[in-house]
Amino acid sequence: MNLSVIVLAAGLGTRMRSEVPKVLHPLCGKPMLHYVLEALSPLKPEEIIVVVNKSHKELKEYLGERVKIAIQDKALGTGHALKAGLKELKDSGTVLVINGDTPLIKAETLKTFIKLHSKDRNSLSLLSFFPSDPSAYGRIIRNGNGKVIAIKEKTDLTPEELNIREVNSGIYLMEPHVLSLINLIKKNPLKGEYYLTDIVSITLKKGLKVVAYCLGDETEFMGINTRKELSTASAIMRKRINENLMLQGVTMIDPENTYIESDVKVGMDTTIYPGVFIEGKTTIGKNCIIHSNVRIVNSVIGDGVTIKDSSVIEDSVIKDNVTIGPFAHLRPGSVISENVKIGNFVEIKKSIIGEGTKAMHLSYIGDAEVGRNVNIGAGTITCNYDGFKKHKTIIEDHVFIGSDTQLVAPVKVSKGAYIGAGSTITKDVPPECLAITRTPQRHIPDWVKKRKRRKD
Ligand code: UD1
Ligand code: CA
Repeated sequence: MNLSVIVLAAGLGTRMRSEVPKVLHPLCGKPMLHYVLEALSPLKPEEIIVVVNKSHKELKEYLGERVKIAIQDKALGTGHALKAGLKELKDSGTVLVINGDTPLIKAETLKTFIKLHSKDRNSLSLLSFFPSDPSAYGRIIRNGNGKVIAIKEKTDLTPEELNIREVNSGIYLMEPHVLSLINLIKKNPLKGEYYLTDIVSITLKKGLKVVAYCLGDETEFMGINTRKELSTASAIMRKRINENLMLQGVTMIDPENTYIESDVKVGMDTTIYPGVFIEGKTTIGKNCIIHSNVRIVNSVIGDGVTIKDSSVIEDSVIKDNVTIGPFAHLRPGSVISENVKIGNFVEIKKSIIGEGTKAMHLSYIGDAEVGRNVNIGAGTITCNYDGFKKHKTIIEDHVFIGSDTQLVAPVKVSKGAYIGAGSTITKDVPPECLAITRTPQRHIPDWVKKRKRRKD
């Protein structure tokens, strides 16, 4: 079948109360429109046209070259929007029309819908469903024989029609001879909009075949008009993502409180505790443990990694068998090699940490290159910023840095050197030596007694 798609996304989304176009509001890290486009791609349409409001510059930018864009200059309703879309349509095959605010739709359901439409040789097909609360949707009106006769919007319903539970999903298949009837849609006198839903009665009046199919599961057709609906849809999407990961062998202690975005990959036998957020393009390996309240963004994590509670990891790479946290912060550009241990209250920024190195307590390591098997004592700080510029610290393999050391960059500590606790290192340290900048310890005998005497 020769199929094209027109996505209606030019509404003003007033019920969202937002300056952001409605279809760009995200669920699980992606704009709702992304999911609609994702469900369309397995259908392999000839072309996808997205109808965008003239004023929605950011939406046009988001779409870029991915699809063809049609402009609706004023938001005069879904019928008016489809007309704008048709202007860009080059083919005259079957057209799938779908609302851009229906992100939970699945490709499988659309495929079945298309099959039924062509098998039954309909001129116009609709997807209908039975939501628990039908009040926000257009109702499917059927006659005594169960045949569809119209879709009626909320404002036009009679008191009896208010009891109808079957509603319109905003997903239609139309043959070219139906598309040519779009011009017959009249402005709704109450709302001043052109309702696409009027196409049903118009098509029937021409003696053409219209069928409504009730397919899939009702959550797929949820249209998002408000932030409340956005949160409900997000929860459903989250559940899908988490269930899919669990099927792939990931353990979740409490999936309802685990927030994983749609592009994230997690390996087998990894356990995720509640309150974890895993965002962006993140990959986590096998046999990892991610403890509570951890947030990981755009990072690559190897196998056998443990991330203890309340740690934040952003745009970083963590290799196999590393332990991080609790309360650690890996800022962008950190690369943590195999078998490294990063402990409590350690912050790392744009640094490479070599294999087997340990920084267990209260440190700041920024703009540094740290070798293998280095021991970084508690409270060690790389002083990387002089008020104007950032400078680099190099710590070579097998170095031992005593607690409470300040490394004033640019500075290099060569292979195997030791730094005495409490030192402020301003010059490069040669290999294998001990650098110490402490003033020697003095003992003043009887100082306490003398002090007391003075006081008396
Ligand atoms: C619409 C349907 C309703 C259906 C529901 C399913 C109409 C008149 N009503 O109602 O029967 O049950 O969807 O979710 O079609 N849009 C434009 N230009 C406009 C107006 C809207 O492109 O001028 C786009 C919106 O961006 C949105 C879609 O069309 O993606 C639907 O518009 P919306 O205002 O959300 O319609 P509903 O009131 O939900
Ligand atoms: Ca809607």
